[in-house]
Amino acid sequence: MLTQEDIDKLRNKEIKPQNLFVGKKSMPSETGETLDVVSPIDGNVFTTIANANENDVNNAVSIARKSFDSGSWSNASPQERKKTLYNFADLIEKHALELAVLGVRDNGTEINLALVAEPLSAAACVRYYAETIDKSYGEIAPTSKNILGLIHREPIGVVGAIIPWNFPLMIGSWKFAPALATGNSIIIKAAENASLTLLKLAELALEAGIPEGVFNVITGEGEITGKALAMHMDVDVIAFTGSGEVGRKILEYASLSNLKRVYLELGGKSPNIVFADTPNIDAAVTQSLGGIFRNSGQVCVAGSRLIIEESIADEFTEKLINQSKDLVVGDPLNLNSNFGAVSSNEQLMKNLKYVNSAIDDGAKLRIGGKQINKNTGGFYMEPTIFSDVDNQMTIAKEEVFGPVLSVIKCKNEEDAVQIANDTNYGLAAAVWTSDLSKAHRMIKSIRAGVVHVNCYGGADITVPLGGVKQSGNGHDRSLHALEKYTDLKSAWISL
Ligand code: NAI
Ligand code: MG
Repeated sequence: MLTQEDIDKLRNKEIKPQNLFVGKKSMPSETGETLDVVSPIDGNVFTTIANANENDVNNAVSIARKSFDSGSWSNASPQERKKTLYNFADLIEKHALELAVLGVRDNGTEINLALVAEPLSAAACVRYYAETIDKSYGEIAPTSKNILGLIHREPIGVVGAIIPWNFPLMIGSWKFAPALATGNSIIIKAAENASLTLLKLAELALEAGIPEGVFNVITGEGEITGKALAMHMDVDVIAFTGSGEVGRKILEYASLSNLKRVYLELGGKSPNIVFADTPNIDAAVTQSLGGIFRNSGQVCVAGSRLIIEESIADEFTEKLINQSKDLVVGDPLNLNSNFGAVSSNEQLMKNLKYVNSAIDDGAKLRIGGKQINKNTGGFYMEPTIFSDVDNQMTIAKEEVFGPVLSVIKCKNEEDAVQIANDTNYGLAAAVWTSDLSKAHRMIKSIRAGVVHVNCYGGADITVPLGGVKQSGNGHDRSLHALEKYTDLKSAWISL
C-alpha cells in the first residue's frame, strides 16, 4: 500500500547532477554543458541534466551500432533475451516507488496516477514483450513445389526513441520494450523536463543484464540532441511521441538524411460524446472529468471536446461544474491531491493563453481558468470548463494539453459525428449511449484510433494505440508494435 510516509521519505532526496547514459556508464556531455531540472512542485532547480551536442549523439549511435553488430543482444538466444527482460521488469518494479517519486518531482503528475501509469506499467510492458520473444515464428510462403519461400523477421538495427515529458516511462516502454524484444539496440532521447526516470532505467537495464550499448539514454535540447538523432545517417528508425510541429520536422529530417522509418504519435483533440440515453449520467460526468483533468490534461488521449446532446446539455454541464468544485489541485506528492502540477511554467502559460483565446472567441468560462497555489512557487492550474463552445473556435481546434474542457452541444447522432470528425486529429474518442446499434454505428463513423464506449480511457498493453489523420501513424502496444521494430527478409530457395 502506498503511504504518505513512504513518499515523504523520498521527496527531498538529493539528486546528483545527471550525465548521459551511453554504453556501460554515465558520462558528461562533450562540452560539460548542462540544463537545469526545475520541479513543477515548487519551481526550484533540484539537479541538472547533460545537454548533449551532435558529437555526443554520434558517439551514442556508434556505441549502439557496435553493440548491435556484436550480436551480444541481437543474436542472443530467445530464452536469454526473455530472461534478461524479465530481470529488467523485476528491477523496475522493485524500484517503482523511487522511480515514481523521482518522476513526479520532474514532471508534476499526481503520485497515485504516476505510480501505476509509470514504473508499474513500464514493468508490465517489458514483461508483455519479453513473453513474445520465444513465441514469434517466421512464415513459409505458399509457393510452387520446387521453391521454398521463407519469411524471416529481423531486428532493424539502431532505434531512436524521442519521448515526451507527460509519461516518460510508460510511453518510453511502449517503444523500447518491443524494440528490445526483437533484438534492436536503442537510444532514447528523453524530454528536457522529464529525463530523470529514464536515466535511472538505463542503470537498471545494465544491472538486469542487457549488454552494454544496447540501452542508451541521452538528454538535451530537442532542437539539438533530438534533431541530431533524427538526422543521423546510422539510425534506422525514429519512434516519436510529442507535438505535431516536431513530428513534421522529424519526417523532414528523415528525408534529408537516410530515409529512416518514422513513427509518430502526435496527440489529439479527442471528442467525448454523451447522448441523452447514456446509461449512467453520474458515471459519464465523473469519467469525463477524469478524461480531461488527469495529469493536468497532459495526456495525448485527453477528452478535451465534450460533445453533449442538447436535451441534457444544461443538466450535464451543471453536474460537471459541481463535481469540479470538489477536485483538489495541489502538491502532486500529497496523496490527498486529485491532480498535481502542470509540467512547466511554459506549458502553464500556454494553457492560460488558450483560456484567453476562448474568452475572446465568445466561449463561456464556467469554472476555473486561473493559475493557483502561486505561493508554492510551482505551476498549478484550476480545472477549467468552457460551455457554449463552437467547434470552429481555436479552443476546440488546437490541442491545449492542459486542464481545459470545451463543452459543445450537438443535436443528434449525425450532428455528433460531423462535429467529432471536424478536426485535424484522430487519436481517441468516446461515446456514451444505451443503444448498442448506435454505439457500433459511432465506432464505425468516428475517425480515431480508439473509440471508448460508456467509459473514458482505461486500456492496456494488449490493445494498440495509434492515431489517424494528423495524430500520426503506427501503433504502440500489443503484438502489432513488434512490426515497427522488425524488417521482413525473404529467402527464395530453389529445390
Ligand atoms: P515537443 O514535441 O517539442 O517535445 C517532445 C520531444 O521532442 C522532446 O523529447 C523534445 O526534446 C523533442 N524535440 C523537440 N524539438 C525537436 C526537434 N526539432 N527534433 C527532434 N526532437 C525534438 O513537445 P513540447 O514542446 O514539450 O510540448 C508542446 C506541445 O506538444 C504540448 O503542449 C502538446 O500539445 C504536445 N505534446 C503532445 C504529447 C503527446 O502525448 N502526444 C506529449 C508532449 C507534448
Ligand atoms: Mg517543443
